[in-house]
Amino acid sequence: MYPKYANFPIFKLSSRNTMQIYKANILFTKERTQFDVIPNGYIAVDGGKVVGVYEQLPASLAGQPITDYGDKLLIPAMCDMHVHAPQYRNQGIAMDLELLPWLQNYTFPEESKYVDTAYAERMYRRFVRDLWRFGTMRTVAFATVHRDSTRLLMNLFREAGMSAHVGKVDMNRNCPDALCETVEDAIRDNEALIADCTEPDALVRPIITPRFVPSCTPELLQACGDLARKHHLPVQSHLSENRSEIAWVQELEPDSRNYGDAYRRYGLFGDTPTIMAHCVWTEGEELELMREKQVMVAHCPTSNLNLSSGTAPIRVFLNQGVPVGLGSDISGGHDLSIFKMMVYAIQVSKMLYCQDKSLPFLTLSEVFWVATKSAGQFFGKVGSFEPGYEFDALVVDDCSLNLDNYSLLHRLERFIYLGDDRQIVHRFCRGKEILEPRV
Ligand code: GUN
Ligand code: FE
Repeated sequence: MYPKYANFPIFKLSSRNTMQIYKANILFTKERTQFDVIPNGYIAVDGGKVVGVYEQLPASLAGQPITDYGDKLLIPAMCDMHVHAPQYRNQGIAMDLELLPWLQNYTFPEESKYVDTAYAERMYRRFVRDLWRFGTMRTVAFATVHRDSTRLLMNLFREAGMSAHVGKVDMNRNCPDALCETVEDAIRDNEALIADCTEPDALVRPIITPRFVPSCTPELLQACGDLARKHHLPVQSHLSENRSEIAWVQELEPDSRNYGDAYRRYGLFGDTPTIMAHCVWTEGEELELMREKQVMVAHCPTSNLNLSSGTAPIRVFLNQGVPVGLGSDISGGHDLSIFKMMVYAIQVSKMLYCQDKSLPFLTLSEVFWVATKSAGQFFGKVGSFEPGYEFDALVVDDCSLNLDNYSLLHRLERFIYLGDDRQIVHRFCRGKEILEPRV
């Protein structure tokens, strides 16, 4: 079916700006430990925001038009907190190396191709469309070092009506010449992309993106920290993913107390909202620093398995009050679906629990909350159906999976474990339905 969509142009946005009421079986996680379940409930949306969720429609809303989704499920849309858009061609291949040789042998050569904006456009269109397919309406993405293809990716998200923080990757050491920039190039290109995005409440925004400490000299890290502070921009990078990587960072930054502290010294660790991918080996002072600075962990369980990095201690982060979201981390990770990321997050937490019974494994409501309300805080009020939250939602038609009279919670669980994009029949971002492109 893919060739049909090879040139999909623009997602068509429905233009509903007035009060909307949707009726369906509504499920979401206001709290981490339990689902809110409203069978045959109503949700009122105005100006892109949730007004309220009701078991019975209040008299004040009587007479408003209702969109009735019948027996379908209505849930918050997904947030992917860590994904490399230019690694999309490598999805599902090259799983035979650990992080550092994997970067050199597979990842950097593929990212080098993005100097060609025609190639970038071909791949990025497919990438954005597939995020849409899997119900991911909010994305925190790495692009490449290239300004023009990064701009293109931002424009594709804008056309799509989907929300994203998109980072031009910054790197100036330990990488092939094709990806190696100067500090001056990095500042100039970031400033150009930041200048494109002046609208304060825009769905698509830049994020400062030093790739990781081994790829960035102290001068570049400092320049990134300065840009984040100057423009009040968020920051993303990688942290404590792989043991060889951590040992290397220790050599490169001998004065830092830990890997996280190396970012902190350059203003890249929580001075502005910050997401760090992986944190597999985070403990002790680094953990304490993340808690203190409220640095968000992007937990990427499939990537951690594929690159044999280890198992991130998510229970510890939750216990400590460190914010957590889920990331697909394509192409270290092989699956773009955040629903599948929930399943993997539960499964790897069970492996950790087998080794340490003081770390109870994650429950379904916990991973759902992590993927929606917890991750969504990075975008504002996103990921829940409480009043004032942006209406990011998916309508799920699970009739093909509903073999018998399952409870609503079991229906959601079966969709998460067994379903895919075929059951997602409507997608909303900030109150607007984003319809499938017709090409
Ligand atoms: N560390 C630095 N770059 C990368 C990357 O592209 N993927 C992953 N998983 N880790 C990284
Ligand atoms: Fe990554």
